[in-house]
Amino acid sequence: MLRSRLFYICSIIFTFYFAHVQQTTAQITAPWEVDALRAIRGSLSDPLGRLDNWNRGDPCGGNWSRVICYNVTASDGYFHVRQLELLRLNLSGTLAPELGQLSRMKIMDFMWNSIGGSIPKEVGNITSLELLLLNGNQLTGSLPEEIGFVPNLNRIQIDQNHISGSIPKSFANLNKTEHFHMNNNSLSGQIPPELSRLPSLVHLLLDNNNLSGYLPPELSQLPKLLIVQLDNNNFSGSSIPSSYGNITTLLKLSLRNCSLEGPALDASGIPQLGYLDISWNQLTGPIPSGKLASNITTIDLSHNRLNGSIPGSFSGLPNLQRLSMENNNLDGSVPSDVWRNIDFSGNRSLILDFHNNALTILANPLTPPANVTILLSGNPICTSQNQLNISQYCQSTSVVVPGGSTNNDTLCPPCSTDLPHENILRSPIPCLCAIPLHVDYRLKSPGFWDFVPYEAEFQHYLSSGLSLSSYQLEVSTFMWEEGPRLKMNLKLFPNNTALFNSGEVLRLRDMFTGWLITDSDIFGPYELIDFIPGWYENVLPRRTKSSLTTGATVGIVIAAFAAAAILSSLITLIILRRHSSQISKRRNAKKIQMKIDGVKDLTFEELSNSTSNFSDSALIGQGGYGKVYRGILADGTGAAVKRTQQGSLQGSEEFFTEIELLSRLHHRNLVSLVGYCDEDNEQMLVYEYMPNGNLRDHLSGQNFISVATKLHLRIVHLVIISEMCLSY
Ligand SMILES: *[C@@H]1O[C@H](CO)[C@@H](O)[C@H](O)[C@H]1NC(C)=O
Ligand SMILES: *[C@@H]1O[C@H](CO)[C@@H](O)[C@H](O)[C@H]1NC(C)=O
Ligand SMILES: *[C@@H]1O[C@H](CO)[C@@H](O)[C@H](O)[C@H]1NC(C)=O
Ligand SMILES: *[C@@H]1O[C@H](CO)[C@@H](O)[C@H](O)[C@H]1NC(C)=O
Ligand SMILES: *[C@@H]1O[C@H](CO)[C@@H](O)[C@H](O)[C@H]1NC(C)=O
Ligand SMILES: *[C@@H]1O[C@H](CO)[C@@H](O)[C@H](O)[C@H]1NC(C)=O
Ligand SMILES: *[C@@H]1O[C@H](CO)[C@@H](O)[C@H](O)[C@H]1NC(C)=O
Ligand SMILES: *[C@@H]1O[C@H](CO)[C@@H](O)[C@H](O)[C@H]1NC(C)=O
Ligand SMILES: *[C@@H]1O[C@H](CO)[C@@H](O)[C@H](O)[C@H]1NC(C)=O
Ligand SMILES: *[C@@H]1O[C@H](CO)[C@@H](O)[C@H](O)[C@H]1NC(C)=O
Ligand SMILES: *[C@@H]1O[C@H](CO)[C@@H](O)[C@H](O)[C@H]1NC(C)=O
Ligand SMILES: *[C@@H]1O[C@H](CO)[C@@H](O)[C@H](O)[C@H]1NC(C)=O
Repeated sequence: MLRSRLFYICSIIFTFYFAHVQQTTAQITAPWEVDALRAIRGSLSDPLGRLDNWNRGDPCGGNWSRVICYNVTASDGYFHVRQLELLRLNLSGTLAPELGQLSRMKIMDFMWNSIGGSIPKEVGNITSLELLLLNGNQLTGSLPEEIGFVPNLNRIQIDQNHISGSIPKSFANLNKTEHFHMNNNSLSGQIPPELSRLPSLVHLLLDNNNLSGYLPPELSQLPKLLIVQLDNNNFSGSSIPSSYGNITTLLKLSLRNCSLEGPALDASGIPQLGYLDISWNQLTGPIPSGKLASNITTIDLSHNRLNGSIPGSFSGLPNLQRLSMENNNLDGSVPSDVWRNIDFSGNRSLILDFHNNALTILANPLTPPANVTILLSGNPICTSQNQLNISQYCQSTSVVVPGGSTNNDTLCPPCSTDLPHENILRSPIPCLCAIPLHVDYRLKSPGFWDFVPYEAEFQHYLSSGLSLSSYQLEVSTFMWEEGPRLKMNLKLFPNNTALFNSGEVLRLRDMFTGWLITDSDIFGPYELIDFIPGWYENVLPRRTKSSLTTGATVGIVIAAFAAAAILSSLITLIILRRHSSQISKRRNAKKIQMKIDGVKDLTFEELSNSTSNFSDSALIGQGGYGKVYRGILADGTGAAVKRTQQGSLQGSEEFFTEIELLSRLHHRNLVSLVGYCDEDNEQMLVYEYMPNGNLRDHLSGQNFISVATKLHLRIVHLVIISEMCLSY
């Protein structure tokens, strides 16, 4: 009788408790942004179910895949979406106009999917937008002029779509835009001369479109322009504006196959020019005789109608890799000392391609170093009888750009195969095995023709850009593609240890996906094709660091669980009280003696072994409660080991209660307890490791554990209340 009244009172307490739980975990993302995300999801088709969790819980609560929010609330009291990271998820469908509601978003990343339809004009309402990343889709329609009014836009990356129409004049307002990457679309019409007002523009990549009209001479006024790449457009009737020879900032100019007429550009006034390609046009007249910058690696004047002789100014360019003048009407003598000043140590080579011209004279004998290839076939000089010793240069007409995989020889024993370990080839610790991260990467507009001599420099550039030691980055393969672009497979290794910690994996991912790596003059802009966490997918924590982790729905779910758990604990307590009043005393003994089905009593040593002595590399999470490590138990199963702060829970009721309660709680969304350790100064809980959580969900062992931990604490709390109630 008394007991049932107490139970009634306690139920009321619980009801208030849960009402409170629900209130504090109510919706935290701005509601209009939640609606917008739902609409965005609704207009996409997601055959692999990558966004399946976009209808439960709260987006910024951390449970929506690839939605990354600001880590603090805005002045309106809500959390807001900072970034959509929907890279390479096999999505199709279209982009919803509701994107415009995510007005505080900085990075909008839909790269490498199959999304069709056009770019909604509402993107122009995302006033915070910095990176617009839509490359590698099936987008059609024209570019909305509204995008021209996004004040903070740094990068427009829409290449490899089917976007048509002309480039809106409004883009001239993009005061902060450094990157126009619009290659491989169907853009047409004239390049708006108004773009010459862009104060920040650095890379202008419009190659492989259907642009026409005249090339605007005004582009020479762009104060920061480094790369102009307009290959494969049709500017017939236009010549190369001579003002382009005044763009003193320029590093690379590529106007291949643009139907250009008139004279070749005199580029001798561009002090740092490294790459000049004006091939496959209808250029006429002589080759300008001014000397090009000493930085130049590549000169391609081939497939034009140039005539006259080859000026002597191409000699003595120390960085030259390729001089192509084939298929013109050049006459006079064959240059005989272009290789002067070139240091051929270290895998350098030089290609001189003069085939299919009208060269007749050999003023000096040709005595090039071994690493110089000269092509002369198709010139009268090859058929004239009195020229000996040049037949070797008159044979083949083609050269293959050096490329391929890099050396992976190692004298180390192979790494164990139970995990995807690999030798770090250049590690200062010999034969260290580690699990790498893989990155598919492409240089979009490199400033050289042959990568081999630049490989070491590249390794240095990218590793320092990522704040890694140089040995941590390995170019495992590289391959030239149409463009020319240079595709690479990169491996990133942890620093002198076997594993990256999850924070480092996320940092590296953010560096690549946020374009935080400083561009290099010689390597040019990069494309991220894929970031493959591989083994690390399972250990990554979720992204948002808000203190409120759950939404209203989740609150209800948890409440339901907790209620069930409490009921069972109440019953337990009643039973315990009836049957043995001594148990509660024994709980305070130093070593808990208990047997719970399926929960192992593990020793400190066992757990230390399973987590590499609790090394930082095995650390997957940390909280006020202690640290969480990833481990592998003796029987081979994966485990997450929660090591409470030393001594803090020694012999305590909470620890015991948590073990007991956890052993009862089984649900697919909660990790289950597989073991514990309770030794002199160490209390640890060992949870089943969740292999299903992965990066794309931004749900990880840690997330599950932190949800579980909160729930457990709450239950512990409630058990104490129940004990108080029952002790009346
Ligand atoms: C996370 O999403 C899953 C569905 O994908 C849902 O069942 C679960 O309750 C959510 N958990 C949290 C903590 O929001
Ligand atoms: C919140 O994010 C900013 C960068 O956006 C970062 O500097 C800061 O450290 C973060 N704060 C927390 C608590 O994570
Ligand atoms: C997903 O897209 C990739 C290319 O991005 C493709 O190779 C793969 O086959 C696709 N997977 C499915 C299941 O469609
Ligand atoms: C975009 O913003 C403008 C002005 O800020 C507003 O008038 C317009 O309704 C917005 N469009 C959308 C689709 O939100
Ligand atoms: C661009 O910046 C200039 C000065 O830096 C300013 O005068 C102009 O109004 C800005 N244009 C836009 C559209 O913000
Ligand atoms: C760009 O378009 C050109 C011409 O259509 C094609 O050869 C090239 O492979 C394309 N590049 C990419 C990266 O799609
Ligand atoms: C390119 O533009 C011209 C008009 O300038 C048009 O006739 C042609 O069909 C377009 N080609 C493609 C492939 O869009
Ligand atoms: C280019 O420089 C020359 C002098 O070096 C000057 O006469 C000419 O006006 C400049 N052209 C442009 C478009 O700035
Ligand atoms: C360059 O010459 C060296 C010997 O001088 C040779 O070992 C190397 O293979 C040559 N490289 C090329 C690309 O010809
Ligand atoms: C080197 O790489 C190639 C291809 O990438 C692979 O087949 C070979 O097994 C690798 N060798 C070593 C020792 O890792
Ligand atoms: C790598 O670790 C060593 C010490 O083991 C340290 O000196 C070095 O600064 C670390 N490098 C980076 C990039 O963190
Ligand atoms: C160009 O040459 C200068 C020295 O004249 C050098 O400092 C710079 O690094 C070179 N740039 C490139 C892209 O090679």
